[in-house]
Amino acid sequence: MNNTFQIAVFASGTGTTLQTLIDSQDRYGYRVALVITNRECMALNRAAKADIPTLQTKDWKMIDNALNEHEVQLVVLAGFLAIIPQWICEKWEKRIINIHPSLLPKHGGKGMYGIRVQEAVLAAGDKEAGCTVHYVSAEVDGGGIIAQEAIAVAADDTPESLTERVQQAEKALLPQVVGNFVEG
Ligand code: GAR
Repeated sequence: MNNTFQIAVFASGTGTTLQTLIDSQDRYGYRVALVITNRECMALNRAAKADIPTLQTKDWKMIDNALNEHEVQLVVLAGFLAIIPQWICEKWEKRIINIHPSLLPKHGGKGMYGIRVQEAVLAAGDKEAGCTVHYVSAEVDGGGIIAQEAIAVAADDTPESLTERVQQAEKALLPQVVGNFVEG
């Protein structure tokens, strides 16, 4: 058994959140042991650069096997744009977390990702935006909330400017939450 707390990161996009998790490993005492993607994406290049094993697949049995092989203790969804099957949610219950760019339960659910979320925040006239780290359950964005960080919406905010500030908040919050799991 490996002594360092082992996490797997699932990503589908540019992987800036993955990069933050890689850069914060020493500070919070965990190791990114595996990166899983469901398509060709920048996250794979970031993992390769950091010498982290990768798996690109949509086969959940393969994913489950890889998590076991790498002795993964916590799965972190970081911009992973696929629905997690119910059997994985159940088998890995309380061991899969996700970062979502809104103050859930607002602006969550199927199809709510990326810039669409901040468009919805502005359309609703919300005074606050933010991000949520939550447990993953079979209901999309519906698992128990672990931590949230709110930011104020400015009068001249655009979906792009809000996305930028929310992502800064995400990158501070997520490694901290993983650090809390390390400490039990
Ligand atoms: C993050 O902002 C994350 O909150 C969002 O995708 C981005 C990942 O960016 N996830 C969702 O919207 C999930 N519903 P990255 O690929 O640069 O890490």
